[in-house]
Amino acid sequence: MSNYETITVEKRDKVAFLTINRPDKLNSLSSKVHEEGVAALDDLRRDENVRVVVITGTGEKSFVAGADISEFNDKTPVTQRNTFYEKTLFNSIDVFPKPVIAMINGFCLGGGCELALACDIRVASENARFSQPEINLGIMPGGGGTQRLTRLIGEGRAMEMILTGDMIDAATAHKFGLVNHVHPLAELAEKTLELANKIAEKAPVALQLCKEAVKFASRSNLDEGLRREVDLFAICFSTEDKQEGVSAFLEKRKPDFKGK
Ligand code: COA
Repeated sequence: MSNYETITVEKRDKVAFLTINRPDKLNSLSSKVHEEGVAALDDLRRDENVRVVVITGTGEKSFVAGADISEFNDKTPVTQRNTFYEKTLFNSIDVFPKPVIAMINGFCLGGGCELALACDIRVASENARFSQPEINLGIMPGGGGTQRLTRLIGEGRAMEMILTGDMIDAATAHKFGLVNHVHPLAELAEKTLELANKIAEKAPVALQLCKEAVKFASRSNLDEGLRREVDLFAICFSTEDKQEGVSAFLEKRKPDFKGK
């Protein structure tokens, strides 16, 4: 366990749970949450025993209800624009080399939706609700919402969510491809851990390279993407894990990947 004020970090074998822990404020993202979340991710990145990270919120009501609106009065255009260069949770998740799963256990709004979008896979409970409600505050998404949501669910659907600020339920989010799976709230942690454990058993270097290649797909044209893929594919052939994977298959046993 950790000594953070606004988050907790718990390791269960090869899976780490990073939980945003401000339930009285529906786990909204204060600057402290960003600061502590970024520091925790840096530790988890270095910890060789951690293979997968799950991000969630405390309680049964909210994953993350957006940016902490109470901090908005102190913000200037310059401080807000500079978040692009700062280590926010969005930026840190985006470049995090290990798989990150968003476990969405309730309200997933504004910066919360953007946080989930920065993750690699999204798993939600049936009571989860999604929106980009910034328009209701007279502003717009600024943590990647207009870009990642559009790439994930398409322009028409993203446009409607962003222009209306309306909430959609988990079934609609699933239909849109915004979340990969929906489970009853009581089963959410177990099902998410099952998925995380399955991924955690794979070869860590290959996981990292897969992530890099898939993320590059929406940031490049096809020729550049195929070029990058084959280069990353070649790197796999320099790893001990590739040898272990191939040997284990031929010897009809389970591979034991070391991340080397
Ligand atoms: N920032 C700061 N505080 C927030 C917050 C946010 N994004 N979302 C909720 N809270 C706080 C509320 O102010 C309230 O605090 P209080 O008890 O000290 O008054 C507490 O969390 C509980 O929220 P409340 O509004 O009473 O719960 P509810 O069940 O009636 O409504 C929501 C839930 C999510 C519909 C409502 O809280 C909401 O609209 N939140 C803002 C969502 C948003 O616009 N996010 C994007 C920001 S860019």
